[in-house]
Amino acid sequence: MRRPIAPVPSSRGSKRAIAVFGLVTLYAGCCAQAPTANGGWIEGRATYYGAPEAVERAYDPTRGAGSFGILAFGACGYTNLPGGTLPFARDAVAASADQNPDYPGSCGRCYEVRCKSGLLLNNERVPIRIVYPDLGGGNISTVGYFDGDTARPYLPSINPNVTDGEGRPFPGNMGEAQKVVDVRCYDENRSLRVRVADSCPCKQVLPDGAPGVKPGGEVRRQEWCCGPVNHFDLSYWAMEQLAHPVFGAIMLNYRPVDCTTGAPIPPNFISPYIYSAVTGIGPGWGWFSYDAQLARLENQGPTPIPGGTKSTCVSVAPKGGLSFRCRQCQRPGFQPFAGRTQLRFWIRPDTEDSDPFNTSTPAGEVPGLKLFIMQEELKQYCRNELVLGNTTLPTGTQGEWYSFVIPLADFGCGGGTGYPELADIDRVDFQNMAIRNAVVCITELALG
Ligand SMILES: *[C@@H]1O[C@H](CO)[C@@H](O)[C@H](O)[C@H]1NC(C)=O
Ligand SMILES: *[C@@H]1O[C@H](CO)[C@@H](O)[C@H](O)[C@H]1NC(C)=O
Ligand SMILES: *[C@@H]1O[C@H](CO)[C@@H](O)[C@H](O)[C@H]1NC(C)=O
Ligand SMILES: *[C@@H]1O[C@H](CO)[C@@H](O)[C@H](O)[C@H]1NC(C)=O
Repeated sequence: MRRPIAPVPSSRGSKRAIAVFGLVTLYAGCCAQAPTANGGWIEGRATYYGAPEAVERAYDPTRGAGSFGILAFGACGYTNLPGGTLPFARDAVAASADQNPDYPGSCGRCYEVRCKSGLLLNNERVPIRIVYPDLGGGNISTVGYFDGDTARPYLPSINPNVTDGEGRPFPGNMGEAQKVVDVRCYDENRSLRVRVADSCPCKQVLPDGAPGVKPGGEVRRQEWCCGPVNHFDLSYWAMEQLAHPVFGAIMLNYRPVDCTTGAPIPPNFISPYIYSAVTGIGPGWGWFSYDAQLARLENQGPTPIPGGTKSTCVSVAPKGGLSFRCRQCQRPGFQPFAGRTQLRFWIRPDTEDSDPFNTSTPAGEVPGLKLFIMQEELKQYCRNELVLGNTTLPTGTQGEWYSFVIPLADFGCGGGTGYPELADIDRVDFQNMAIRNAVVCITELALG
């Protein structure tokens, strides 16, 4: 019956929020129309974020590194600590616009993307114009901007000579004279598989103190991500395989696919396997640690892991934890907990130390973490939090691992009493309530 202690939210997304050219994290807003499928392919558009330092310096000499945004610390978490590295290939990640119809549960979902040559379209589906602002006194800016986005310069107007990672020169914009962007893809048949690791909010909330932001913070509209044209912010390294990055943005054909096999999946797919020992983090699920000294999304453990080889491991301070979140998944059509009856997982202490005065998770004992589930967007908790090895006992052991199969009814959600309904739950946390650090690994976390 105790209220769980509200964990400190991860605010790392703000690192992207200060990017000049990168579109940014932190979401708001809702709902565009469902995409019309065409053989599984959906039309969309993409900008990009992150870039090699040489490219950043070419376009923003004063700020340089980071001015196009960074890939790590995105809105889906996935950031290993210490060091702050993203555990995915840099050419295989993207951010989903929060107005895309399948934005809920998009963290960890994979998309196959192809470049589509031709005119870059705005959200009214007419060619987006390059505008050259009137600076007053009869002066017109030599730097052009995409109409509706004065934060995103038209790069060829600053420097058309920047080559991509393979040394290829910008092929030129055939729409230059008409002040539109006519993209020539490298190969329209080339397809890449990217995983969503971040979000691009239509309404961008910029924190107080970020460079170029008014005191007290600011809210900016990022037209690209406001729909109804579906949009992705690809990593620079994904973009440069499709078309020259100096174009700035491209049209896409894309479809949701299985991250491992590449087979098409339904757009709303959210895996009941939140973390699999075979495939790691499940499509639909963000991964966050808080008050962590060490956090690894994927750990190839020295000990055999039931069913596979992967687990996720953290070392967290008191009140720190590990959190799995399906963003905006309370929306009908998503709802990963709807109709489910169990939460199951394997957990083990990840320390050699068996002295309870040294660690709150001594070797050879059930890690006594608190487990709770909640509705993230409304910050609503169910009645009960459980304590592993105390209010809930393991159903089995294997080596150092303990298995749990927990009836979801034990959390006491819903019932018309002001607690969130089970169907609206979209977050699972393991939290350290002891007075010493907890060091654990978890795997095979799934809804049944
Ligand atoms: C790009 O290259 C052309 C041809 O070499 C040169 O005239 C021009 O100054 C260069 N522009 C920039 C911004 O470096
Ligand atoms: C792309 O694929 C289509 C259909 O297979 C083919 O006709 C076309 O020649 C391909 N284009 C390129 C550039 O390879
Ligand atoms: C507990 O930590 C102390 C200090 O680091 C160490 O000397 C001791 O061996 C540890 N206990 C065990 C059982 O490892
Ligand atoms: C188990 O729960 C009881 C009752 O809440 C509490 O007094 C006790 O300290 C707990 N033990 C552990 C190991 O958490």
